[in-house]
Amino acid sequence: MFKSLLRRLKPLPRVVIETERFTLRGVSREWLGRHSFRWAENEAFLDGLGWPPGPYTRRKWTRRFTRSDNRKVFHFAIFPRGSDHLIGSHGVFFTEPGSALLYVAIGDLEWWGKGVVQEVRAALLDFVFDKAGGHRAYGQVHGRNAASMYNYQRLGFRHEGTMRQQRLLPRSNERVDLVMFGLLKEEWLARRSVREMRPDPPSTRNTG
Ligand SMILES: CC(C)(COP(=O)(O)OP(=O)(O)OC[C@H]1O[C@@H](n2cnc3c(N)ncnc32)[C@H](O)[C@@H]1OP(=O)(O)O)[C@@H](O)C(=O)NCCC(=O)NCCS
Repeated sequence: MFKSLLRRLKPLPRVVIETERFTLRGVSREWLGRHSFRWAENEAFLDGLGWPPGPYTRRKWTRRFTRSDNRKVFHFAIFPRGSDHLIGSHGVFFTEPGSALLYVAIGDLEWWGKGVVQEVRAALLDFVFDKAGGHRAYGQVHGRNAASMYNYQRLGFRHEGTMRQQRLLPRSNERVDLVMFGLLKEEWLARRSVREMRPDPPSTRNTG
């Protein structure tokens, strides 16, 4: 108990990760709640997460996010490199030793369809497996979120199961499946070594 009190009093470790186009910074849920509050009004965004439509107070919005400690639970705020404009967040939660649950939320719709998740998640998988002691990463997506399912599969996650009619979508009141995706460390390392051996293809992505 004394140890956990000490840990709570210590400042959060700073975690910063750079990708080609983005800077990711580990932030507290209070920081994220304060800076992402405008996302609470976006129905398409809330539908993707399966979150209720609100209205939200700032406190209620903040409490939708799990409390982070930058040790086992991370919210990475996503910024375009060289900018302090928050465009989204990507979570990494070690729900069991070595097993990291992922979530992503791109709150700035200008950045949808521009490959943010692919680039940011690849860097976070390196972090999970190389630095944070992870042996497995996984995600759970409701069955109406095609973009999110596509994003997992494109990075090599396997479909590991479907919980039929598990989620009730609050706005449409529709019961939908929850689809589970998982990736093991050795699968990611194998994929990465193949990628590193290939020459870079010419970029066809809109770089925003
Ligand atoms: C989910 C989210 C992060 C996806 O953002 P994104 O990666 O920019 O999404 P994109 O539009 O690029 O879609 C990803 C891929 O899925 C494909 N896709 C999207 N909708 C599709 C559909 N209905 N059917 C088939 N493919 C589809 C896109 O074509 C794209 O593939 P491409 O890269 O080959 O073009 C974003 O929509 C978001 O933040 N939503 C709100 C929060 C959320 O849903 N989080 C996930 C919770 S698990």
